[in-house]
Amino acid sequence: MSAAPISVATLAAMKARGERITCLTCYDASFARLLEAAGVDMMLVGDSLGMVVQGHDTTVPVTLEQMAYHCACVARGRSRALLIADFPFLVGATPERALVGAARLMQEGGAQVVKLEGGAGVLETVRCLTTQGVPVCGHLGLMPQSVNLIGGYRFQGRDTDSAETIARDALALQEAGASLLVLECVPAALAQQISRSLRIPVIGIGAGAGCDGQVLVVYDMLGLNRGRPPRFSRDFLAGRDSVPAALAAYVAAVRDGSFPGPAETAY
Ligand code: KIV
Repeated sequence: MSAAPISVATLAAMKARGERITCLTCYDASFARLLEAAGVDMMLVGDSLGMVVQGHDTTVPVTLEQMAYHCACVARGRSRALLIADFPFLVGATPERALVGAARLMQEGGAQVVKLEGGAGVLETVRCLTTQGVPVCGHLGLMPQSVNLIGGYRFQGRDTDSAETIARDALALQEAGASLLVLECVPAALAQQISRSLRIPVIGIGAGAGCDGQVLVVYDMLGLNRGRPPRFSRDFLAGRDSVPAALAAYVAAVRDGSFPGPAETAY
């Protein structure tokens, strides 16, 4: 494995070679060092920190200041992996807010890519960010910041209309300049079709093994859940004696295509 820092171009080349991309969420410097040692390709400072670190029921309360703080913590522990930071609730709603958000996450937080939820409604924002030199990761399917609109953490894209909307939005995000796309909780066949049709890498969570890479919330894959673990996750610490061993097993399982397996996949 090359020790050169990973960029969005590295990830595009990995997709072209058919090499699966590994990503985990990360919220502090200690975990960033562990993820680096395991050879994870990307670290996502997800706004999931609102739930797993801060104890909220949703990601909505997370602020830009908190995201910048956690991102800076992670940045101190990373060396090679690409550092992605989530835009918190409504920061991607207008190009003006997004530019302020990207400046904070990149200048204070050391982020290299910003991730925002949304399809047709955020295309202008994505165009504005990429024109200004900000690499963008889109996020479609289940968009947790919309939980109050959709009424829960529901699987998306099961009917023809919503599957078509997700596929159309995915293409539009790529054409607007996005460098990466996260697909959350969509049927495996839809995720595979989108991954095959886009040039940019598609990273799945609860979207089957046909994506170009996988991401999980690090607390979930270590079995540190409040309540029932998500069906699409796997406890990689179970049967292993250390966190580094669990992280290494996750990286190996994503790379060899054995994660997610049929039990962790919705068709
Ligand atoms: O916030 C987050 O952790 C995320 C992942 C679930 C993809 O967006």
